[in-house]
Amino acid sequence: MKPTFASPLKLPCGLVLRNRIARAAAFAGGDVATVAATHAEVARGGAALTVVAYTSVAREGRTFAEQFVLTPEDAPKNVASIADAVHEAGGHIVFQLTHAGGFSSPALSEGTTPIGPSANFDLTAFGWPRAIDNADMDKLERAYATAAAFVVGPNCRADGVEVHLGHGYLLSQWLSPAMNTRTDEHGGSAEARLHFPMRIVKAVRAAVGPNKALLVKLNTHDGFEGGVSPADVAVTVRALASEPGLVDAIVPSAGFVNRNGFYMLRGSVPRYGMVRALSRTSSAKALAMTLFGRIFVPEIPFNPGFLMEGASAVLATVTASPVQVPVLAIGGFVDLLSVEAALAQGFSGVQMARALIREPALVNQWLRHTAASSDIATAPVSVCSHCNVCVLAALTPEVPSRCVERPPPDKEPDIEDFYTCSASR
Ligand SMILES: Cc1cc2nc3c(=O)[nH]c(=O)nc-3n(C[C@H](O)[C@H](O)[C@H](O)COP(=O)(O)O)c2cc1C
Ligand code: SF4
Repeated sequence: MKPTFASPLKLPCGLVLRNRIARAAAFAGGDVATVAATHAEVARGGAALTVVAYTSVAREGRTFAEQFVLTPEDAPKNVASIADAVHEAGGHIVFQLTHAGGFSSPALSEGTTPIGPSANFDLTAFGWPRAIDNADMDKLERAYATAAAFVVGPNCRADGVEVHLGHGYLLSQWLSPAMNTRTDEHGGSAEARLHFPMRIVKAVRAAVGPNKALLVKLNTHDGFEGGVSPADVAVTVRALASEPGLVDAIVPSAGFVNRNGFYMLRGSVPRYGMVRALSRTSSAKALAMTLFGRIFVPEIPFNPGFLMEGASAVLATVTASPVQVPVLAIGGFVDLLSVEAALAQGFSGVQMARALIREPALVNQWLRHTAASSDIATAPVSVCSHCNVCVLAALTPEVPSRCVERPPPDKEPDIEDFYTCSASR
């Protein structure tokens, strides 16, 4: 029998998720109590798995001061309360591991020069990163492994990790021929560019052990000319699906946040809100957004399932591989019909961000609907407007990490309704 959204999903590591819906990583800043409340809410709302977004494996790999740094020395003391709250609500939880590489913020690392695969100018950082050498590679491998071990250890108690190989962060820079112009054994062919990211994935697996979940989020395309090609992506996916027990799920996304942070979102760009939020931390960035925002952050219309073309190619590559790794579709899922269509196509599950920010209990609504009716076309649909105002919370702690459009009794205005939501668009 074909699985439905309500069917449990057994991951290769043995972890059984209670259904096929995961809350995707969505960074919105916030302290441990806020993050715990957010993830417990979606777990209570029925999601099987939730991903704590954008944690950093090193202090010097951050772009925002509010990111959790998951080293034993730097992790917030009560961070385990996040996983405890999710488990209490019947869900599972993984932490996303990142390092921003060439566009890490020097201001957050005592002025250290950011490191990237190659010393190419980075517009977001407005500077040149230092090209990573062998000692850096060893240090990064240790940092990823240390963070991964911490996440599943007694002081964090999560069920696994999601290693970010996409969205333009360090390992995505490494995979992208536009960023990785190395002439040594780590540059050139797709296989050469994959060597270091695979070393990290293997180190993370060794650190978490065989019984914890290891998800990988990657790019099916970078969103600009000269980025990863479909053939490059197939090389990466084949490698991830070459060893039993290496990876528990692949999440195919797209885009570089430092080129256009809305490429992987689609929908409105809340320009006014961004300028105002940025002005609280960096007047230079606020001015740049005012002057060049329309050029560098063009608006791309939202379409349901907008990443399915690349995701389907990933699914086809996995299906033809010796090891079957679950593929979780992501990008623009708002209704049950589309979720069921993805599962019928062979995806093992779906990750949803904005629909579950807008309606954290959507999965329970679907469960109630399907218990009463076999017509999935009439199941509740997320009313998220894709205004993307929820992104502003990442830019300044002043903006609450929640959906601006959630109605009463949830709605707690104000700060001018997150910088006057409609004017933001
Ligand atoms: C407020 C917000 C913050 C996000 N932060 C992250 C992040 O930290 N890491 C990540 O991989 N994706 C992040 N994303 C992207 C989502 O994980 C997801 O890929 C994207 O929103 C498309 O899914 P959706 O249409 O279900 O929202 C974020 C999305 C939103 C809306
Ligand atoms: S409606 Fe809410 S969840 Fe949807 S994009 Fe806007 S703020 Fe985010």
